[in-house]
Amino acid sequence: MCGIVGCIGAENAYSILIKGLHRLEYRGYDSAGVALLNDNGELNVYKSRGKVNDLERFCESKDCSGSLGIAHTRWATHGEPNDVNAHPHCCQNGTLALVHNGTIENYAVLREALEQHGCSFRSETDTEVLVQLIGYIKQSSGCSTLEALREALQQVVGAYAVALVDREQPDCLYAARKSSPLVIGIGDGATFLGSDASPLVEFTDKVVYLKDNEIAIISRSEPLKVITNDNTPGKVDIKTLKMSVSQLEKGGYPHFMLKEIFEQPDTLHDCIRGRIVDGKVLLSGVRDNEEVFRSARRIIIVACGTSWHAGLIGKRLFLDLARIPVEVEYASEFRYSNPVVNRGDIVVAISQSGETADTLAALQIARERGAFAYGVCNVVGSSIARETDSGTYIHVGPEIGVASTKAFTGQVTVLAMLALAVGQLRGTVSAEQVKEIAASIKALPGIIRTTLKLNDSIRHLSGIYTYVHNFLYLGRGVNFPTALEGALKLKEISYIHAEGYPAAEMKHGPIALIDNELPTVFIAPMDDLHEKVISNIQQVKARGGSVIAIVTEGDETIATMADHTLEIPRVPECLSPVVSAIPLQLLAYHIAVMKGRDVDMPRNLAKSVTVE
Ligand code: M6R
Repeated sequence: MCGIVGCIGAENAYSILIKGLHRLEYRGYDSAGVALLNDNGELNVYKSRGKVNDLERFCESKDCSGSLGIAHTRWATHGEPNDVNAHPHCCQNGTLALVHNGTIENYAVLREALEQHGCSFRSETDTEVLVQLIGYIKQSSGCSTLEALREALQQVVGAYAVALVDREQPDCLYAARKSSPLVIGIGDGATFLGSDASPLVEFTDKVVYLKDNEIAIISRSEPLKVITNDNTPGKVDIKTLKMSVSQLEKGGYPHFMLKEIFEQPDTLHDCIRGRIVDGKVLLSGVRDNEEVFRSARRIIIVACGTSWHAGLIGKRLFLDLARIPVEVEYASEFRYSNPVVNRGDIVVAISQSGETADTLAALQIARERGAFAYGVCNVVGSSIARETDSGTYIHVGPEIGVASTKAFTGQVTVLAMLALAVGQLRGTVSAEQVKEIAASIKALPGIIRTTLKLNDSIRHLSGIYTYVHNFLYLGRGVNFPTALEGALKLKEISYIHAEGYPAAEMKHGPIALIDNELPTVFIAPMDDLHEKVISNIQQVKARGGSVIAIVTEGDETIATMADHTLEIPRVPECLSPVVSAIPLQLLAYHIAVMKGRDVDMPRNLAKSVTVE
């Protein structure tokens, strides 16, 4: 939530900052702003409600010169999205400008105290409180900006990633983090800053991931220096970035979401590569921790949103293949539930971004209570990836569209491989079973390629349902979470209300909703529960509801009952969510496009939820 960009030493900082903001816009897009220090020592701050394009238009007639600057794209937490609440914010005398990602929980108390000391506030934000606090400490004690920043960070409670410019220090930029990500890119003569690596990728592949409670002193002429909030020198650990610019562009597609849906044959190929060898699953995270997995008493999966849905599927896979008791928890609930966690428990944190605040906190709690922490993340070097004992990356490349698509199929595929690898180790799956499922996993990229051929018929189908107000999604067993995921996709990008249920639960309440205005999407592949799902379809049809059914190719029974069928290739039951997710993603996408929605940046949402 919120994107930060910074730059020092480049000739035209403004263009770098704006380009970086576009890259980070998926993190928040209700307002944006930039602060630039020009060669005359003036600190120019420009802010605008709306997207980065609006900021650019606003800046057209302004002085945007300077080689040092910070910029921000916002997802509002304190105060409505408007020009005043947009970042950067300045201290009382205007010498300091700050951008912030996170939330300062004790901002109200601090604000009141600062007001008593004569500070007057322009915005409703917690961020202005922080920069006013830094300014006040600096002025009242006569200390340096760095000292004031350190002192202020010790007083705030909450999460932050900040970048700070001091008009009186034209050769320096400060950055600090706690629970919100920041990456520093070390270029040739210039240094860059970003909430993730995407704004830095075309300038350098040398990056430093700032750690919690660290402050970076980024100077024009001196090497990067890192200290902790209590003034201990920190380590500058330079890593090599493996990301290319082309991965961050639309590649001819109208939206990132469609590009990411169509990328799935390749992303799954990358996800599986090197992990299935001679009919067996090889995951280094399991191989390096065999005893932990062999003796595991329980798995606790923590995640949010789509990742939580993948976790529910993972539960079925671990139960079936590894015979370990599994609990799946919303990370946001788990963290405040005083959970019983023991040694011998494994906490699996699933997160595309690796930065979701609730998932990170849940993971930390489970770990403190003795669990072994395993991560299933996409973003390499992300906070969750770094805070786990071990893990498996899904390796599906940067996901920019706010609606998660390729990350979901990557997560389920990794969870299938993980359950299989642990089952192999514990002797709970036969060699035959491993061989069969492993071969099917290897075949997934080709199967997804075939499934994507449904695109045209789904576009046509979407035209029929564009103006419906409600949708029901039903599935059973491993495809109940797929139904939840289908409903989430539709509601987040089309703003149509949609509910997912286990198909058999329908008769306990939701059936009351069925009429000719409520379409139901059934996920009904040929599996052990196929006959049961057929009965559920008949119940809907008997009440005048229309049915869109996702079925295994050649399923003539459902074809005679449903209004529309979408045929997917046959795969083992445990992998069917990966395949049935494709038509659900396409259905949500086309309906949203037909409704004229902003598919990649739906209202009120942000890609990476780094606040509570
Ligand atoms: O980065 P994470 O996987 O931790 O994100 C979790 C959710 O915020 C995310 O899946 C969200 O629900 C997506 N918008 C769903 O499409």
